[in-house]
Amino acid sequence: FDARVARIASTIRVIPDFPKPGIMFQDITTMLLNPEAFRDTIDLFVERYKDKGITVIAGVEARGFIFGPTIALALNAKFIPLRKPKKLPGEVISEEYSLEYGTDKIEMHVGAVEPNDRAVVVDDLIATGGTLCAAVKLIERAGAEVVECACVIELPELKGRDKLGNKPVFVLVKADEAG
Ligand code: PRP
Ligand code: MG
Repeated sequence: FDARVARIASTIRVIPDFPKPGIMFQDITTMLLNPEAFRDTIDLFVERYKDKGITVIAGVEARGFIFGPTIALALNAKFIPLRKPKKLPGEVISEEYSLEYGTDKIEMHVGAVEPNDRAVVVDDLIATGGTLCAAVKLIERAGAEVVECACVIELPELKGRDKLGNKPVFVLVKADEAG
């Protein structure tokens, strides 16, 4: 067990009943206020993926954009933003998904990934897994390989991993340990 993970977990704030009653919101913005914890988070992902031939880090809008680019630069990999609908100006492919609260869509520019690419999808949190599942589908429809999904936090009781099938999901913190 890496002591850095305990520090990261301790900086994540839990806000009950946001944005709806019954949701325990895992707020990573308090972790971002702590440069040591933020740096450790980036370092743990970079340590995991260096020397694995990763050529793409795909970040899911919005909170995947907080972590993805720094990891991509450290790995000398491309960063690809997977965006909410109607934000990307070029030709896109899109995937619909259902969220813990509501439904949404994410889009990726055609030509962003190439068939030889080896991608990691980065986001802050896996809840139902719908978002990551859509992200994986987008990249694989474009012909590239998704090696793994990587998140800071998991809400294990929502069994998001089941939705991802045999696609590995790497997380630093399980929600029970946060706060
Ligand atoms: C949140 C979170 C993940 C997603 C996880 O994003 O950042 O992307 O939900 O939920 P799931 O595993 O059930 O799909 P959200 O779209 O709520 O907002 P954001 O734009 O602030 O990232
Ligand atoms: Mg999100």
